[in-house]
Amino acid sequence: LNNGLALTPPMGWLSWERFRCEKDCKKFPNSCVDEELYMAMADRMVADGYREAGYEYVHIDDCWAAPQRDENGKLQADPQRFPSGMQALADYLHEKRLKLGIYTDIGYDTCEGLPGSEFYMESDANTFAEWGVDLVKTDGCNADLKEMDISYPAFGFYLNNTGRRMVYGCSWPAAQIVLGKMQPNYASIRQHCNIWRNFLDVQDSWENVKGVFKFYGENKQNFANFSGPGGFSDPDQLLMGDYGLSIYQQKAQFGMWAMMTSPLFMSVDLRTIDPKAKAILLNKNVIAINQDPLGAQGIMLYGISNSLSVWRKPLAVKGSFAIAFLNEDDQGRPMPFSIHLGDIGLTNVNGYNVTNIFDNIHMGYFKPTSTLNVLIDPTSIVIVKAVPL
Ligand code: GLA
Repeated sequence: LNNGLALTPPMGWLSWERFRCEKDCKKFPNSCVDEELYMAMADRMVADGYREAGYEYVHIDDCWAAPQRDENGKLQADPQRFPSGMQALADYLHEKRLKLGIYTDIGYDTCEGLPGSEFYMESDANTFAEWGVDLVKTDGCNADLKEMDISYPAFGFYLNNTGRRMVYGCSWPAAQIVLGKMQPNYASIRQHCNIWRNFLDVQDSWENVKGVFKFYGENKQNFANFSGPGGFSDPDQLLMGDYGLSIYQQKAQFGMWAMMTSPLFMSVDLRTIDPKAKAILLNKNVIAINQDPLGAQGIMLYGISNSLSVWRKPLAVKGSFAIAFLNEDDQGRPMPFSIHLGDIGLTNVNGYNVTNIFDNIHMGYFKPTSTLNVLIDPTSIVIVKAVPL
């Protein structure tokens, strides 16, 4: 969507993967979905360097809304859990130079059965604008899948019509692929949305994350071609600091999300996050690959065996690339791998300056014919940046 927003993938914190739909704040005062949770995360984002690293959206997911609209049909936040109201939360974030993301659904109900926007598109768009919302994730539960080709553009029209600049997130292709086994119209999705979920929900396991790599590696319908400034494919949230991935697998997920030019939404308790997970989230070099202004989505060049694949993402500096070596193998030793840059399309005769970007190690100068050796930890990744000389 060319509305001047999301020129690089949006970055922030999103509650769903880690905090889900917990509404019982008596029993779970520190982990229920309430205004204090979002304020606490905002505080950490400022104090612990996340905002400076580029994470700016504090993004509410499902379960913020009261079960009923008000007497005028307006959406309202749950009064027990958001006693100050959404506008106050938006103000709190804006004062901290952060932004507010909110959640709704294109159908009549959200996935958790709260009011959806189906018959209230104009009114809900106006409500979000009035509250000071900066991003609207629009889910695809309880909706007609074919009609999405019309309903998503329609809601986007009303959002735009408010005059407030809001990033438009669509679950349009995800719903059509996952629920309907349909072929989404990516050209139209690119035209009408800033980010689009196009696969299953991420869950806290390596198996699940590997499924994402496979889906993006296959790149059916060449959906990678549609990503660029203003519109990005969204493989869902990051799992750094959660329960299911080893630190090596967390590197693999973060590195691959950088290569795939994905929105970077962490979903973790920032009050208690493990320092190693935090260091991954704050890795400047990897973030720079994700946020590269060219905005091209990296693609898989080849899967050499079932477990090792090579990915390439062109960068803004002419002729330069990020190359990822992803090792999904769980054999207990780092896997050695060698390649000629020329074999993966890096043919500049003067050669390249190559850096291992995760570890910030200068690897040297390589001609297209010289051999690049890497050692990839089990279920992990090595990413190099190659800049032409
Ligand atoms: C769907 C979405 C998730 C989350 C939940 C909330 O499953 O894909 O990201 O928003 O709904 O109910």
